[in-house]
Amino acid sequence: MMLSYQFQYGPKLIAGRGAAERLDAMLPAGRCLFVTDETVRALGLADGALAALAAAGREPVVFDRVEQDPSRDTLMAAVAAGEGCVSVVGFGGGSPMDVAKLAAYLIATAEDLDTLWGVGKALGTKLPLALVPTTAGTGSEATPVTVITVGGSEKRGVSGAALLADFAVLDPDLTLSLPRAVTAATGIDAMVHAIEAYTSARLKNPMSDMFARKAMRLISDNLLRACDHPDDADARGRMLLAAHLAGIAFANAPVAGVHALAYPLGGHFHIPHGLSNALMLTHVLAHNMEAARPLYAELGAMLDPSVKDIGQQGQAQAFVQHLARLSRAAGVPQRLSDVGIGPEHLDLLAAEAMKQERLLINNPCPISQADARRLYEAAL
Ligand SMILES: [Fe+2]
Repeated sequence: MMLSYQFQYGPKLIAGRGAAERLDAMLPAGRCLFVTDETVRALGLADGALAALAAAGREPVVFDRVEQDPSRDTLMAAVAAGEGCVSVVGFGGGSPMDVAKLAAYLIATAEDLDTLWGVGKALGTKLPLALVPTTAGTGSEATPVTVITVGGSEKRGVSGAALLADFAVLDPDLTLSLPRAVTAATGIDAMVHAIEAYTSARLKNPMSDMFARKAMRLISDNLLRACDHPDDADARGRMLLAAHLAGIAFANAPVAGVHALAYPLGGHFHIPHGLSNALMLTHVLAHNMEAARPLYAELGAMLDPSVKDIGQQGQAQAFVQHLARLSRAAGVPQRLSDVGIGPEHLDLLAAEAMKQERLLINNPCPISQADARRLYEAAL
């Protein structure tokens, strides 16, 4: 029987060293809102792209005040800065790219943000948009989703094909200066996107599977190379591709329990998103084992062909162990206690995780509040 499913491909992909300096060819002449953050600016990562845009008459208007977990105020300030612009660039990690996506839509349509929250409400036409990631993790350049923080701590999303970028630019030169800790944590985030897409209880399909599997192989083969040899542009390029492919996978087959339990670590303790996911990864996978064993076994044998004859249970265990080894070897902190979380925080974390209903429904098996508390406790 033919499965029924839908699949949305990503933006047009432009990859290669120096690709970010060819943004001008992707955008119409006229003013361009260039959304980034202060770190990117301070490191000079955007200098080449800005010079190329200016030389080609694109008149970049730089908005570099995007913070981690960007707020509604920041988004609206970016929209105001972009008045009269005819195109938008998002340049940085997930936060500047998310702000750029929604700014490109709001500048063009002048719609009220409060009518757009949720899935499929944004139906207008945004300005031409190019997204340029400077970490290999979020995959935000590949997805039609943007997450904005409203009223201090509430995360709200706008999701719809209208937000999908026209161009995703993967330039490994932009990631050569990433510190090891960021390379490792963001790389594990991309790995989690691929794993959760592959085992998503709803919407998993043969196309998202293909993207997820390729992403996992690329990360397994290149994460430590990128950590140990930060100037290896080839490994950096493969990690950017992996994060992008994982983004396309989870844009179609959404993420689940690992992300649901990771979000409260970011929301309440400001632990970076990738690290939050890495800390919860193996514990949630162990919880999912009963329901997801056949899929984990497939992935275990894919990443380590030496286990192909040891049976499903052994292969599935080997998968979890492979991920744990990768995370440790990359140097990612392994315990919640390493990042300042103690037993007194377990109840709060478990209660907060239950609010991530939109993610929990994708998990291969249910996670109750008691389960969540037990998983956080196991991760202490
Ligand atoms: Fe993520």
